[in-house]
Amino acid sequence: MDQNQESRLLLGIGGGISAYKSVDLVRRLKERGFDVRVVMTHAATTLVTPLTFQAVSGHPVRTTLLDATAEAGMSHIELARWADWLLIAPATADLMARLAAGIADDLLTTLALATEAPLCLAPAMNQHMWRHPATQENLHILRERGARILGPAEGDQACGDVGPGRMLEPIEIAEAMRPVTVHQLTGARILLTAGPTREPLDPVRYLSNRSSGRMGYALASALGSLGAEVVLVSGPTALAQPRIAELIQVETALDMRAAVMTQVSSCDIFVATAAVADYRPAESAGRKIKKDADELVLRLVRNPDILAEVADLASPPFTVGFAAETDDLERHALAKLTAKGLDMIAANQVGGAQGGFERDDNALTVFWKDGRRDLPLMSKTRLAQTLAELIAERYRGRHAAST
Ligand code: PMT
Repeated sequence: MDQNQESRLLLGIGGGISAYKSVDLVRRLKERGFDVRVVMTHAATTLVTPLTFQAVSGHPVRTTLLDATAEAGMSHIELARWADWLLIAPATADLMARLAAGIADDLLTTLALATEAPLCLAPAMNQHMWRHPATQENLHILRERGARILGPAEGDQACGDVGPGRMLEPIEIAEAMRPVTVHQLTGARILLTAGPTREPLDPVRYLSNRSSGRMGYALASALGSLGAEVVLVSGPTALAQPRIAELIQVETALDMRAAVMTQVSSCDIFVATAAVADYRPAESAGRKIKKDADELVLRLVRNPDILAEVADLASPPFTVGFAAETDDLERHALAKLTAKGLDMIAANQVGGAQGGFERDDNALTVFWKDGRRDLPLMSKTRLAQTLAELIAERYRGRHAAST
């Protein structure tokens, strides 16, 4: 992404009385360099006219999914792809419920499902609605999926109540959007490995592990959202390509090493989330191994350690490793940080009931030479966003120190 390029922000307006404040929000966002396009729910159009938002945003406002004329211009899928950010303000209790349930019964909720852009919500509703367990559960679901929640504030409400549920002021929302949208990694090229490797025994069997690729793919997306050009070298997974510059698919550890070594010289940061097989069969049979013998002994040979090799290059990129441990997490992770000469290592507990392989959530403890940060159990999407920001912070810190 170009450093001077505006952040493309899709602003969803829900049917809450504070929709009128979002007119000012558009202005505030534009002042901060956002290119804003507005989508309104039907209820919102009964409170403020689309023409008002068209006038302040400078773009036509979309209100319905089945609008043949609008679809002929920028279709809803193109609009979903266009957005760097989806901000919904006001986010009513009903909208939050529909988003949490994955319902796509109007243009805004359809876009929320179709876009890969991070979701930010500025809730606005009556205090009892906000406190209701249903709303709080929906809030929890949305947060766990990685949504960023801005507010609500406490105070006088339009209905006469006093309590939590007021939408934040437009200037507060616009200011809150700024830090997350600064393209902290613009201009950086990042090489990332993800997923398992498969080490063939014969044409139909292989040795592998439980990595689903979810952690690595989420991190690739999050780093891309910070403006980096991301190249992902992935072992076999069932995941769709995230919105990144390039996906290189590989099968074995040796293939992964070859792809990494071809790309690494043009990269500023290397992140190794892949669960690379440490050993491969010494021989891979040309034909399916028959089950004639009662016992079969496999001889395994060591695979190259890709991460250690990258960190050992004459001028290595900023290098981030992962450590998957079943016990003594801190000691093993710190040993890997030092032994492999890494800039950072993100350690996770695997093999237990929580986090790690094949799950949607995870917890990490990140170590560097003289610091650490604990990232508690949360969705891999949200965890990846936090880790991406930490990587950006540490990378920029090292960069600034060396220039
Ligand atoms: O894919 P998911 O299901 O979402 O699960 C995520 C995960 C558990 C796989 C991920 O969070 C994780 O921990 N990845 C690293 C797994 C691993 O192989 O850890 P390790 O401690 O064995 O290896 C240490 C580091 O060296 C890792 O960065 C690994 O990528 C790298 N390595 C290891 C061996 C090797 N031959 N080459 C390497 O580059």
